[in-house]
Amino acid sequence: MKKLTLTLALLLSLMILVVPAFADQLRPVVGIVQIVNHNSLDASREGFLRALAEEGYVDGQNMTVIYRNAQGDQATLNSIADYLVGEQVDLILAIATSSAQAVANKTETIPILGTAITDYLSANLVKSYEAPGVNVSGTTDMNPIKEQLAMIPELVPTVKTIGLIYTSSEVNSQQQIIVAKEEIEKMGLAWEEVTVNNTNDVQQAVLSLAEKCDAIYIPTDNTLASAMPIVYEVSVDKKIPVVTGAGEMVRQGGTFTLGLDYEKLGYQTGKMAAKILRDGADISTMPIESQTDYNYYVNQSAMDAIGIAVPEKLLPYSEPMVTPVPQ
Ligand code: TRP
Repeated sequence: MKKLTLTLALLLSLMILVVPAFADQLRPVVGIVQIVNHNSLDASREGFLRALAEEGYVDGQNMTVIYRNAQGDQATLNSIADYLVGEQVDLILAIATSSAQAVANKTETIPILGTAITDYLSANLVKSYEAPGVNVSGTTDMNPIKEQLAMIPELVPTVKTIGLIYTSSEVNSQQQIIVAKEEIEKMGLAWEEVTVNNTNDVQQAVLSLAEKCDAIYIPTDNTLASAMPIVYEVSVDKKIPVVTGAGEMVRQGGTFTLGLDYEKLGYQTGKMAAKILRDGADISTMPIESQTDYNYYVNQSAMDAIGIAVPEKLLPYSEPMVTPVPQ
């Protein structure tokens, strides 16, 4: 009897020792860092968590998610990066270019998956798309810039000059603007550009381009994305259409575009995360993935206010503004 009690006690203490460690292994900690709140980025985060749940990783059940948002502030972004690395999380999801740069600067060992990242190479995040060679991989949201721009003469046949607005410090925007300029020139059109430092500059930037241009192109720029209601006001007032890098930017004040689905992009990234967490896949050999499933987005309210008729093929995509415009 005594022997049995002893064995039981031993077994029990062993379980106490072993089970938490075992449970810990099954319960990975995933850090999520996001530069700012706007719909595209939120959608990619939701898609990521949806894919992980589908793979059996549910936040609060068998996975812990530490989610932090820098609200557009670089200093906050850096302290979030410090915090997540200090916590020694098992994997980090970095949403948008600056988030990935911030965490990649702090760790060479924790796997970092990026999503909604325009260009990993110009952001110095990986060695190549096929084989990153470092602890970073993920999904890119490089947009169909050529096709987006090609919509302009279709909808505005008289267009001669396209205005470009972006934030000078956003490397993701710089890269898209390089492509946009090339494409505009290939189309035989002219461009004019204005850069902004923050959202306070946006109204003046749109006003100045409205003087010289027949349409405006705005890439997936995190500063501009937060200022779409301001863009909308000037755009309808000056009757100048605004083509955007992302569909959500149309929903919030742009006029039309062809863009990718960020929820799907995040979902694809979540599947990559499952391979790392469950199968122990080596991130440095995981190619960067992309999305080619594009959708048209047409802001019916903007089209009406500017006075552009929606072509027949775009009618199914035309929807009124979701976000109320400030008066
Ligand atoms: N691609 C941007 C980056 O790399 C982030 C982004 C995704 C974005 N979707 C957007 C920015 C829509 C503005 C609007 O940082």
